[in-house]
Amino acid sequence: MRCLLDLTGENHSQETLYRQIPFPPAPPDRPYVFLNMVSTLDGKITLGEVGDTAIGLGSSMDKELMKRLQNNAQAVIIGASTLRAGHITYPSSLWRAVVTNSGDIPLRSPFFTEAPGKAVVFTTERMPEEQRNAIQESAHVVVCGMERVNLSQALSFLRHQLNIERLLCEGGGELNFEMFAAGLIDEWFLTLAPKVKGGRHIPTTVEGVGLPRERVVQMQLLSVYEQEGELYLRYRRQG
Ligand SMILES: NC(=O)c1ccc[n+]([C@@H]2O[C@H](COP(=O)([O-])OP(=O)(O)OC[C@H]3O[C@@H](n4cnc5c(N)ncnc54)[C@H](OP(=O)(O)O)[C@@H]3O)[C@@H](O)[C@H]2O)c1
Repeated sequence: MRCLLDLTGENHSQETLYRQIPFPPAPPDRPYVFLNMVSTLDGKITLGEVGDTAIGLGSSMDKELMKRLQNNAQAVIIGASTLRAGHITYPSSLWRAVVTNSGDIPLRSPFFTEAPGKAVVFTTERMPEEQRNAIQESAHVVVCGMERVNLSQALSFLRHQLNIERLLCEGGGELNFEMFAAGLIDEWFLTLAPKVKGGRHIPTTVEGVGLPRERVVQMQLLSVYEQEGELYLRYRRQG
């Protein structure tokens, strides 16, 4: 692995990169949030069709870095489509949260079964009580909002009720957009795989309706590492 730039003052090898990250302290009202995604050069987040997993996109090094980033967090948050896409598994010490309106989530997934009592489902008032009760058998159901999950409220719950100070967001593109739009992403770890997929219908790292020109999020590059043409980029939100 080559270090091409590291403005944090560190210089890592493939053994040490992202192993123990000295993140800034969490703000008082929410955890410090870092996003991790792997994409093709054209920004696509699956090599398959809509709804497929990210399998095959990143190298084995990327998978290793993904695990290390999970180990830097106390909790992870994902969108429901990412959970529906496939087998999601985390270290059992990690709290795991999913955001959903529909409540259409696979309760038999290891996401729920591998760490009993550590799963949180953030949803809205729109979820019928019967469905809420069914999900409650497998997870804590937390209602935050009427039509859409209010993500600031959800993160405040993680900080104040569960004491979470470092939260990893693992996508997908829809959730990422809402998190950026609400000003809730502090850092972005992005693996750029030297691959091109194309396809306007294939989701990219950040989807949603898009931000108006004056609200575009400015990121500052912190470090760049490279191995076999794959780039490991770390950005921090400016300001
Ligand atoms: N390459 C990578 O690093 C990577 C990482 C993660 C995912 N992926 C891929 O990305 C794809 C999924 O991404 P995606 O953009 O389609 O979807 P997504 O962001 O994973 O999930 C979108 C869903 O999350 C729920 N949601 C998000 N924000 C919400 C809010 N504020 N309030 C209520 N519900 C909310 C809704 O669930 P309901 O529909 O249940 O209401 C929505 O349909 C999959 O193919 C997955 O494999 C790739």
